[in-house]
Amino acid sequence: MKTYLVTGAAGFIGANFVKYMLAKYPEIKIVVLDLLTYAGNLGTIAEDIDGDRCEFVKGDICDRALTDELFAKYQFDYVVNFAAESHVDRSIENPQLFLVTNILGTQNLLDSARKAWVTGKAETGYPRWREGVRFHQVSTDEVYGSLGAEGYFHETTPLDPRSPYSASKTSADLFVQAYSETYKMPVSITRCSNNYGPYHFPEKLIPLIIKNILEGKSLPVYGDGTNVRDWLYVEDHCKAIDMVIHKGRAGEVYNVGGHNEKQNIEIVKLTIGTIRNLMTEQPEYRQILKKKEIGADGQISIDWINESLITFVKDRLGHDQRYAIDPTKITNELGWTPETSFEVGIVKTIRWYLDNQKWVEDITGGDYMKYYEEMYGNR
Ligand code: NAD
Ligand code: DAU
Repeated sequence: MKTYLVTGAAGFIGANFVKYMLAKYPEIKIVVLDLLTYAGNLGTIAEDIDGDRCEFVKGDICDRALTDELFAKYQFDYVVNFAAESHVDRSIENPQLFLVTNILGTQNLLDSARKAWVTGKAETGYPRWREGVRFHQVSTDEVYGSLGAEGYFHETTPLDPRSPYSASKTSADLFVQAYSETYKMPVSITRCSNNYGPYHFPEKLIPLIIKNILEGKSLPVYGDGTNVRDWLYVEDHCKAIDMVIHKGRAGEVYNVGGHNEKQNIEIVKLTIGTIRNLMTEQPEYRQILKKKEIGADGQISIDWINESLITFVKDRLGHDQRYAIDPTKITNELGWTPETSFEVGIVKTIRWYLDNQKWVEDITGGDYMKYYEEMYGNR
Protein backbone atom coordinates (compact mmCIF):
# COMPACT_ATOMS: atom_id res chain seq x y z
CA MET A 1 0.00 0.00 0.00
CA LYS A 2 1.39 3.39 -1.01
CA THR A 3 1.06 6.34 1.36
CA TYR A 4 0.69 9.91 0.17
CA LEU A 5 1.20 13.19 2.01
CA VAL A 6 -1.09 15.66 0.25
CA THR A 7 -0.72 19.22 1.53
CA GLY A 8 -3.32 21.95 1.05
CA ALA A 9 -6.08 19.45 0.28
CA ALA A 10 -8.80 21.38 2.13
CA GLY A 11 -8.46 23.87 -0.74
CA PHE A 12 -9.79 23.79 -4.28
CA ILE A 13 -7.46 21.60 -6.36
CA GLY A 14 -6.02 19.54 -3.50
CA ALA A 15 -9.52 18.46 -2.41
CA ASN A 16 -10.44 17.48 -5.97
CA PHE A 17 -7.16 15.54 -6.17
CA VAL A 18 -7.85 13.59 -2.96
CA LYS A 19 -11.34 12.64 -4.22
CA TYR A 20 -9.92 11.62 -7.61
CA MET A 21 -7.15 9.47 -6.10
CA LEU A 22 -9.33 7.74 -3.49
CA ALA A 23 -11.86 6.86 -6.18
CA LYS A 24 -9.20 5.59 -8.58
CA TYR A 25 -6.92 3.64 -6.22
CA PRO A 26 -8.67 1.49 -3.56
CA GLU A 27 -5.33 0.48 -2.04
CA ILE A 28 -3.75 3.85 -1.19
CA LYS A 29 -3.61 5.85 2.02
CA ILE A 30 -3.65 9.66 2.02
CA VAL A 31 -2.65 11.94 4.88
CA VAL A 32 -3.86 15.50 4.34
CA LEU A 33 -1.87 18.31 5.95
CA ASP A 34 -3.66 21.66 5.83
CA LEU A 35 -3.54 24.78 7.98
CA LEU A 36 -7.18 25.62 7.21
CA THR A 37 -6.51 29.22 6.25
CA TYR A 38 -9.41 31.31 4.88
CA ALA A 39 -9.10 29.20 1.67
CA GLY A 40 -9.27 25.82 3.39
CA ASN A 41 -12.50 24.20 4.48
CA LEU A 42 -12.62 20.89 6.28
CA GLY A 43 -16.21 20.42 5.06
CA THR A 44 -14.85 20.10 1.51
CA ILE A 45 -13.13 16.80 2.33
CA ALA A 46 -15.08 15.75 5.43
CA GLU A 47 -16.75 12.88 3.56
CA ASP A 48 -13.34 11.57 2.45
CA ILE A 49 -11.68 11.51 5.88
CA ASP A 50 -12.42 8.10 7.34
CA GLY A 51 -9.38 7.84 9.66
CA ASP A 52 -8.24 4.82 7.65
CA ARG A 53 -7.65 5.45 3.94
CA CYS A 54 -7.69 9.19 4.52
CA GLU A 55 -6.52 11.05 7.62
CA PHE A 56 -6.50 14.77 8.30
CA VAL A 57 -3.86 16.74 10.19
CA LYS A 58 -4.34 20.44 10.83
CA GLY A 59 -0.97 22.12 10.62
CA ASP A 60 1.49 24.34 8.84
CA ILE A 61 3.83 23.13 6.10
CA CYS A 62 6.41 25.49 7.65
CA ASP A 63 6.34 23.63 10.99
CA ARG A 64 9.46 21.45 10.92
CA ALA A 65 8.75 19.54 14.11
CA LEU A 66 5.32 18.59 12.77
CA THR A 67 6.44 17.61 9.27
CA ASP A 68 9.34 15.52 10.66
CA GLU A 69 6.92 13.80 13.01
CA LEU A 70 4.52 13.01 10.15
CA PHE A 71 7.28 11.59 7.96
CA ALA A 72 8.48 9.40 10.84
CA LYS A 73 4.97 8.20 11.64
CA TYR A 74 3.66 7.46 8.13
CA GLN A 75 6.62 6.42 5.91
CA PHE A 76 5.29 8.44 2.97
CA ASP A 77 6.00 7.21 -0.56
CA TYR A 78 4.76 10.39 -2.24
CA VAL A 79 4.47 14.04 -1.29
CA VAL A 80 2.14 16.17 -3.41
CA ASN A 81 2.48 19.79 -2.38
CA PHE A 82 -0.61 21.88 -3.14
CA ALA A 83 -0.43 24.02 0.02
CA ALA A 84 0.07 27.64 -0.90
CA GLU A 85 -1.25 31.13 -0.75
CA SER A 86 -2.81 31.09 -4.20
CA HIS A 87 -4.50 34.43 -4.94
CA VAL A 88 -2.59 37.04 -6.97
CA ASP A 89 -4.66 39.98 -5.63
CA ARG A 90 -3.87 39.01 -2.03
CA SER A 91 -0.16 38.73 -2.89
CA ILE A 92 -0.21 42.36 -4.00
CA GLU A 93 -1.56 43.32 -0.55
CA ASN A 94 0.68 41.06 1.57
CA PRO A 95 3.70 39.68 -0.33
CA GLN A 96 5.54 38.39 2.74
CA LEU A 97 2.92 35.79 3.61
CA PHE A 98 3.41 34.35 0.11
CA LEU A 99 7.15 34.18 0.61
CA VAL A 100 6.75 32.38 3.94
CA THR A 101 4.13 29.81 2.88
CA ASN A 102 5.08 29.21 -0.71
CA ILE A 103 8.88 29.30 -0.50
CA LEU A 104 9.81 28.46 3.09
CA GLY A 105 6.95 25.96 3.38
CA THR A 106 8.09 24.10 0.25
CA GLN A 107 11.72 24.12 1.36
CA ASN A 108 10.70 22.81 4.79
CA LEU A 109 8.81 19.90 3.21
CA LEU A 110 11.79 19.16 0.97
CA ASP A 111 14.04 18.94 4.04
CA SER A 112 11.68 16.70 5.99
CA ALA A 113 11.40 14.43 2.95
CA ARG A 114 15.18 14.41 2.53
CA LYS A 115 15.70 13.46 6.15
CA ALA A 116 13.16 10.64 5.95
CA TRP A 117 13.97 9.31 2.50
CA VAL A 118 17.79 9.25 2.33
CA THR A 119 19.01 5.77 3.19
CA GLY A 120 22.77 6.30 2.85
CA LYS A 121 25.41 7.51 0.43
CA ALA A 122 25.86 6.17 -3.09
CA GLU A 123 29.31 5.51 -4.59
CA THR A 124 28.91 8.70 -6.59
CA GLY A 125 28.89 10.69 -3.34
CA TYR A 126 25.23 11.63 -3.77
CA PRO A 127 22.62 10.52 -1.23
CA ARG A 128 20.93 7.17 -1.87
CA TRP A 129 17.12 7.48 -1.88
CA ARG A 130 14.50 5.05 -0.71
CA GLU A 131 13.13 3.14 -3.73
CA GLY A 132 9.98 4.56 -5.36
CA VAL A 133 9.63 7.85 -3.51
CA ARG A 134 8.64 11.09 -5.27
CA PHE A 135 8.25 14.74 -4.20
CA HIS A 136 5.78 16.49 -6.49
CA GLN A 137 5.42 20.26 -6.59
CA VAL A 138 2.15 21.69 -7.93
CA SER A 139 3.20 24.81 -9.78
CA THR A 140 1.66 27.30 -12.17
CA ASP A 141 2.00 28.72 -15.68
CA GLU A 142 2.38 32.15 -14.03
CA VAL A 143 6.10 31.41 -13.46
CA TYR A 144 6.64 32.09 -17.18
CA GLY A 145 5.31 35.66 -17.00
CA SER A 146 3.02 37.15 -19.60
CA LEU A 147 2.56 36.52 -23.33
CA GLY A 148 1.60 38.90 -26.13
CA ALA A 149 -1.04 38.00 -28.70
CA GLU A 150 0.98 35.05 -30.08
CA GLY A 151 2.92 32.06 -28.77
CA TYR A 152 2.80 29.56 -25.92
CA PHE A 153 4.58 28.73 -22.68
CA HIS A 154 6.88 25.73 -23.23
CA GLU A 155 8.85 24.00 -20.44
CA THR A 156 11.93 25.76 -21.88
CA THR A 157 10.38 29.24 -21.74
CA PRO A 158 12.53 31.43 -19.43
CA LEU A 159 11.06 32.00 -15.99
CA ASP A 160 9.80 35.59 -15.73
CA PRO A 161 7.39 35.99 -12.80
CA ARG A 162 5.69 39.38 -12.44
CA SER A 163 3.56 39.26 -9.27
CA PRO A 164 4.58 38.49 -5.68
CA TYR A 165 2.51 35.28 -6.01
CA SER A 166 4.27 34.10 -9.15
CA ALA A 167 7.68 35.16 -7.79
CA SER A 168 7.07 32.97 -4.73
CA LYS A 169 5.92 30.00 -6.84
CA THR A 170 8.96 30.39 -9.12
CA SER A 171 11.31 30.44 -6.13
CA ALA A 172 9.67 27.28 -4.78
CA ASP A 173 10.17 25.58 -8.17
CA LEU A 174 13.83 26.58 -8.14
CA PHE A 175 14.29 25.03 -4.70
CA VAL A 176 12.67 21.81 -5.88
CA GLN A 177 14.99 21.76 -8.90
CA ALA A 178 17.97 22.61 -6.68
CA TYR A 179 17.23 19.55 -4.49
CA SER A 180 17.02 17.44 -7.62
CA GLU A 181 20.44 18.65 -8.85
CA THR A 182 22.25 18.86 -5.51
CA TYR A 183 20.96 15.74 -3.76
CA LYS A 184 19.53 13.81 -6.73
CA MET A 185 16.18 13.89 -4.92
CA PRO A 186 13.38 12.29 -7.03
CA VAL A 187 11.14 15.27 -7.76
CA SER A 188 8.71 16.42 -10.42
CA ILE A 189 6.90 19.68 -11.15
CA THR A 190 3.68 20.40 -13.03
CA ARG A 191 2.94 23.93 -14.25
CA CYS A 192 -0.76 24.20 -14.93
CA SER A 193 -2.98 26.91 -16.37
CA ASN A 194 -6.13 28.33 -14.69
CA ASN A 195 -8.36 25.65 -13.16
CA TYR A 196 -12.11 25.82 -12.71
CA GLY A 197 -14.66 23.42 -11.23
CA PRO A 198 -16.30 22.46 -7.91
CA TYR A 199 -14.95 23.81 -4.58
CA HIS A 200 -13.27 26.86 -6.18
CA PHE A 201 -13.08 29.67 -3.62
CA PRO A 202 -15.24 32.65 -4.68
CA GLU A 203 -12.41 35.16 -4.69
CA LYS A 204 -11.33 33.79 -8.09
CA LEU A 205 -13.00 34.97 -11.30
CA ILE A 206 -15.49 32.20 -12.19
CA PRO A 207 -16.91 31.41 -8.72
CA LEU A 208 -16.96 35.12 -7.83
CA ILE A 209 -19.02 35.92 -10.93
CA ILE A 210 -21.45 33.08 -10.17
CA LYS A 211 -21.83 34.23 -6.55
CA ASN A 212 -22.36 37.87 -7.54
CA ILE A 213 -25.03 36.99 -10.11
CA LEU A 214 -26.94 34.93 -7.54
CA GLU A 215 -26.75 37.88 -5.15
CA GLY A 216 -27.79 40.42 -7.81
CA LYS A 217 -24.44 42.26 -7.51
CA SER A 218 -22.39 43.87 -10.26
CA LEU A 219 -19.72 41.78 -12.00
CA PRO A 220 -16.26 43.36 -11.61
CA VAL A 221 -14.06 42.98 -14.69
CA TYR A 222 -10.50 44.27 -14.29
CA GLY A 223 -9.26 46.75 -16.90
CA ASP A 224 -10.86 46.26 -20.31
CA GLY A 225 -11.49 42.52 -19.87
CA THR A 226 -9.20 41.49 -22.74
CA ASN A 227 -6.70 39.60 -20.57
CA VAL A 228 -6.53 35.96 -21.61
CA ARG A 229 -6.41 32.89 -19.37
CA ASP A 230 -6.19 29.25 -20.49
CA TRP A 231 -8.92 27.38 -18.56
CA LEU A 232 -8.75 23.70 -17.58
CA TYR A 233 -11.37 21.62 -15.76
CA VAL A 234 -9.89 20.71 -12.37
CA GLU A 235 -10.26 16.94 -12.78
CA ASP A 236 -8.06 17.07 -15.89
CA HIS A 237 -5.36 18.72 -13.77
CA CYS A 238 -5.73 15.96 -11.14
CA LYS A 239 -5.35 13.33 -13.87
CA ALA A 240 -2.16 15.03 -15.10
CA ILE A 241 -0.60 15.07 -11.62
CA ASP A 242 -1.47 11.39 -11.13
CA MET A 243 0.24 10.55 -14.43
CA VAL A 244 3.34 12.63 -13.70
CA ILE A 245 3.99 11.22 -10.22
CA HIS A 246 3.61 7.65 -11.46
CA LYS A 247 4.95 7.77 -15.01
CA GLY A 248 6.76 11.10 -15.39
CA ARG A 249 10.54 11.24 -15.37
CA ALA A 250 12.15 12.35 -12.11
CA GLY A 251 13.70 15.80 -12.28
CA GLU A 252 11.34 16.96 -15.03
CA VAL A 253 8.85 19.79 -15.46
CA TYR A 254 5.55 19.15 -17.29
CA ASN A 255 3.26 21.92 -18.52
CA VAL A 256 -0.47 21.20 -18.18
CA GLY A 257 -3.15 23.01 -20.18
CA GLY A 258 -5.94 22.24 -22.58
CA HIS A 259 -5.67 24.94 -25.30
CA ASN A 260 -8.71 26.75 -24.02
CA GLU A 261 -7.78 30.41 -24.14
CA LYS A 262 -10.52 32.90 -23.40
CA GLN A 263 -10.65 36.61 -22.67
CA ASN A 264 -12.01 37.41 -19.21
CA ILE A 265 -14.96 39.27 -20.72
CA GLU A 266 -15.90 36.14 -22.69
CA ILE A 267 -15.82 34.09 -19.48
CA VAL A 268 -18.11 36.55 -17.72
CA LYS A 269 -20.57 36.63 -20.63
CA LEU A 270 -20.56 32.82 -20.89
CA THR A 271 -21.25 32.54 -17.17
CA ILE A 272 -24.20 34.94 -17.43
CA GLY A 273 -25.61 33.00 -20.41
CA THR A 274 -25.15 29.60 -18.75
CA ILE A 275 -26.89 30.67 -15.54
CA ARG A 276 -29.81 32.03 -17.58
CA ASN A 277 -30.05 28.77 -19.53
CA LEU A 278 -29.99 26.61 -16.41
CA MET A 279 -32.62 28.78 -14.73
CA THR A 280 -34.79 28.59 -17.83
CA GLU A 281 -34.52 24.78 -18.01
CA GLN A 282 -34.99 24.36 -14.25
CA PRO A 283 -36.96 27.33 -12.87
CA GLU A 284 -36.65 25.94 -9.32
CA TYR A 285 -33.04 27.22 -9.32
CA ARG A 286 -34.50 30.78 -9.32
CA GLN A 287 -35.33 30.30 -5.63
CA ILE A 288 -31.59 30.74 -4.96
CA LEU A 289 -31.63 34.31 -6.35
CA LYS A 290 -31.53 37.00 -3.65
CA LYS A 291 -33.46 39.33 -5.99
CA LYS A 292 -36.92 37.79 -6.30
CA GLU A 293 -38.78 40.07 -8.73
CA ILE A 294 -41.88 38.39 -10.11
CA GLY A 295 -42.25 38.60 -13.90
CA ALA A 296 -45.40 38.89 -16.05
CA ASP A 297 -45.56 35.05 -16.20
CA GLY A 298 -45.81 34.86 -12.40
CA GLN A 299 -42.31 33.34 -12.08
CA ILE A 300 -39.21 34.82 -10.42
CA SER A 301 -37.73 36.93 -13.20
CA ILE A 302 -34.27 36.37 -14.68
CA ASP A 303 -34.59 39.23 -17.20
CA TRP A 304 -32.16 41.34 -15.16
CA ILE A 305 -29.42 38.64 -15.42
CA ASN A 306 -27.72 40.14 -18.45
CA GLU A 307 -24.57 41.94 -19.57
CA SER A 308 -25.67 45.20 -17.93
CA LEU A 309 -24.39 43.67 -14.65
CA ILE A 310 -20.80 43.88 -15.99
CA THR A 311 -18.78 46.72 -14.43
CA PHE A 312 -15.29 47.53 -15.62
CA VAL A 313 -13.19 48.31 -12.54
CA LYS A 314 -9.64 49.47 -11.83
CA ASP A 315 -7.12 47.02 -13.21
CA ARG A 316 -4.97 44.65 -11.14
CA LEU A 317 -1.47 46.09 -10.65
CA GLY A 318 0.99 44.43 -13.05
CA HIS A 319 -1.85 42.43 -14.60
CA ASP A 320 -0.40 39.70 -16.86
CA GLN A 321 -1.96 40.01 -20.31
CA ARG A 322 -2.09 36.46 -21.61
CA TYR A 323 -1.30 32.90 -20.51
CA ALA A 324 -1.30 29.96 -22.93
CA ILE A 325 0.18 26.53 -22.29
CA ASP A 326 1.83 24.19 -24.77
CA PRO A 327 1.06 20.71 -23.33
CA THR A 328 2.94 18.77 -26.06
CA LYS A 329 5.45 17.21 -23.65
CA ILE A 330 2.92 15.66 -21.25
CA THR A 331 0.76 14.54 -24.18
CA ASN A 332 3.61 12.92 -26.11
CA GLU A 333 5.45 11.39 -23.14
CA LEU A 334 2.58 10.34 -20.91
CA GLY A 335 -0.49 10.34 -23.15
CA TRP A 336 -2.30 13.03 -21.15
CA THR A 337 -5.14 14.85 -22.86
CA PRO A 338 -7.97 16.82 -21.25
CA GLU A 339 -11.31 14.99 -21.11
CA THR A 340 -13.74 17.80 -20.28
CA SER A 341 -14.36 20.49 -22.88
CA PHE A 342 -15.01 24.01 -21.63
CA GLU A 343 -18.61 23.90 -22.91
CA VAL A 344 -19.32 20.83 -20.76
CA GLY A 345 -17.11 21.88 -17.81
CA ILE A 346 -18.65 25.32 -17.32
CA VAL A 347 -22.18 23.88 -17.20
CA LYS A 348 -21.07 21.18 -14.71
CA THR A 349 -19.36 23.82 -12.59
CA ILE A 350 -22.26 26.26 -12.49
CA ARG A 351 -24.71 23.47 -11.78
CA TRP A 352 -22.45 22.34 -8.90
CA TYR A 353 -22.57 25.85 -7.40
CA LEU A 354 -26.34 26.02 -7.77
CA ASP A 355 -26.64 22.63 -6.04
CA ASN A 356 -24.12 23.46 -3.29
CA GLN A 357 -25.06 26.88 -1.96
CA LYS A 358 -24.53 25.62 1.60
CA TRP A 359 -20.83 25.08 0.82
CA VAL A 360 -20.57 28.64 -0.50
CA GLU A 361 -22.30 30.03 2.60
CA ASP A 362 -20.03 28.05 4.93
CA ILE A 363 -16.81 29.16 3.26
CA THR A 364 -17.76 32.82 2.82
CA GLY A 365 -18.40 34.00 6.37
CA GLY A 366 -17.56 37.38 7.87
CA ASP A 367 -13.94 37.40 6.71
CA TYR A 368 -15.00 37.04 3.10
CA MET A 369 -17.31 40.07 3.27
CA LYS A 370 -14.52 42.14 4.83
CA TYR A 371 -12.14 41.02 2.08
CA TYR A 372 -14.71 41.84 -0.61
CA GLU A 373 -15.30 45.34 0.76
CA GLU A 374 -11.56 46.05 1.02
CA MET A 375 -10.71 44.62 -2.39
CA TYR A 376 -13.60 45.94 -4.45
CA GLY A 377 -14.91 48.86 -2.36
CA ASN A 378 -12.68 51.50 -3.95
CA ARG A 379 -12.07 49.93 -7.34
P1 NAD B 1 -6.47 27.24 -2.55
O1 NAD B 1 -6.13 28.62 -2.11
O2 NAD B 1 -7.88 26.90 -2.91
O3 NAD B 1 -6.03 26.19 -1.43
C1 NAD B 1 -4.82 26.30 -0.73
C2 NAD B 1 -4.88 25.38 0.48
O4 NAD B 1 -3.60 25.45 1.15
C3 NAD B 1 -5.94 25.77 1.51
O5 NAD B 1 -6.65 24.63 1.93
C4 NAD B 1 -5.12 26.35 2.66
O6 NAD B 1 -5.73 26.17 3.93
C5 NAD B 1 -3.82 25.57 2.54
N1 NAD B 1 -2.67 26.26 3.14
C6 NAD B 1 -2.30 27.55 2.98
N2 NAD B 1 -1.21 27.82 3.70
C7 NAD B 1 -0.86 26.66 4.32
C8 NAD B 1 0.21 26.29 5.19
N3 NAD B 1 1.13 27.18 5.59
N4 NAD B 1 0.27 25.02 5.63
C9 NAD B 1 -0.67 24.11 5.25
N5 NAD B 1 -1.70 24.40 4.44
C10 NAD B 1 -1.79 25.66 3.98
O7 NAD B 1 -5.48 26.93 -3.75
P2 NAD B 1 -5.73 26.11 -5.11
O8 NAD B 1 -6.33 27.01 -6.11
O9 NAD B 1 -6.35 24.82 -4.79
O10 NAD B 1 -4.22 25.86 -5.56
C11 NAD B 1 -3.49 24.73 -5.08
C12 NAD B 1 -2.08 24.76 -5.66
O11 NAD B 1 -2.15 24.72 -7.07
C13 NAD B 1 -1.29 26.01 -5.30
O12 NAD B 1 0.03 25.63 -5.05
C14 NAD B 1 -1.38 26.87 -6.56
O13 NAD B 1 -0.23 27.68 -6.68
C15 NAD B 1 -1.42 25.81 -7.63
N6 NAD B 1 -2.13 26.17 -8.88
C16 NAD B 1 -3.40 26.68 -8.83
C17 NAD B 1 -4.07 26.94 -10.03
C18 NAD B 1 -5.48 27.47 -10.04
O14 NAD B 1 -6.01 27.80 -11.09
N7 NAD B 1 -6.16 27.57 -8.89
C19 NAD B 1 -3.44 26.69 -11.25
C20 NAD B 1 -2.13 26.19 -11.26
C21 NAD B 1 -1.50 25.92 -10.06
O1 DAU C 1 -2.69 30.58 -14.19
C1 DAU C 1 -2.74 29.82 -13.03
C2 DAU C 1 -3.17 30.70 -11.88
O2 DAU C 1 -4.56 30.95 -12.06
C3 DAU C 1 -2.90 30.07 -10.51
O3 DAU C 1 -1.52 29.92 -10.34
C4 DAU C 1 -3.49 30.94 -9.39
O4 DAU C 1 -3.33 30.29 -8.14
C5 DAU C 1 -4.97 31.15 -9.68
O5 DAU C 1 -5.52 32.01 -8.69
C6 DAU C 1 -5.17 31.75 -11.06
O6 DAU C 1 -4.65 33.08 -11.12
P1 DAU C 1 -5.41 34.27 -11.88
O7 DAU C 1 -4.94 35.56 -11.33
O8 DAU C 1 -5.34 34.08 -13.35
O9 DAU C 1 -6.94 33.95 -11.43
P2 DAU C 1 -8.14 34.91 -11.01
O10 DAU C 1 -9.36 34.05 -10.98
O11 DAU C 1 -7.81 35.71 -9.81
O12 DAU C 1 -8.27 35.89 -12.23
C7 DAU C 1 -8.52 35.42 -13.54
C8 DAU C 1 -8.55 36.62 -14.47
O13 DAU C 1 -9.74 37.38 -14.17
C9 DAU C 1 -7.39 37.59 -14.26
O14 DAU C 1 -7.02 38.11 -15.53
C10 DAU C 1 -7.95 38.68 -13.38
C11 DAU C 1 -9.41 38.72 -13.78
N1 DAU C 1 -10.37 39.09 -12.69
C12 DAU C 1 -10.30 38.42 -11.51
C13 DAU C 1 -11.19 38.72 -10.49
C14 DAU C 1 -11.09 38.00 -9.16
C15 DAU C 1 -11.36 40.04 -12.93
O15 DAU C 1 -11.44 40.62 -14.02
N2 DAU C 1 -12.24 40.33 -11.93
C16 DAU C 1 -12.19 39.73 -10.69
O16 DAU C 1 -13.00 40.06 -9.80
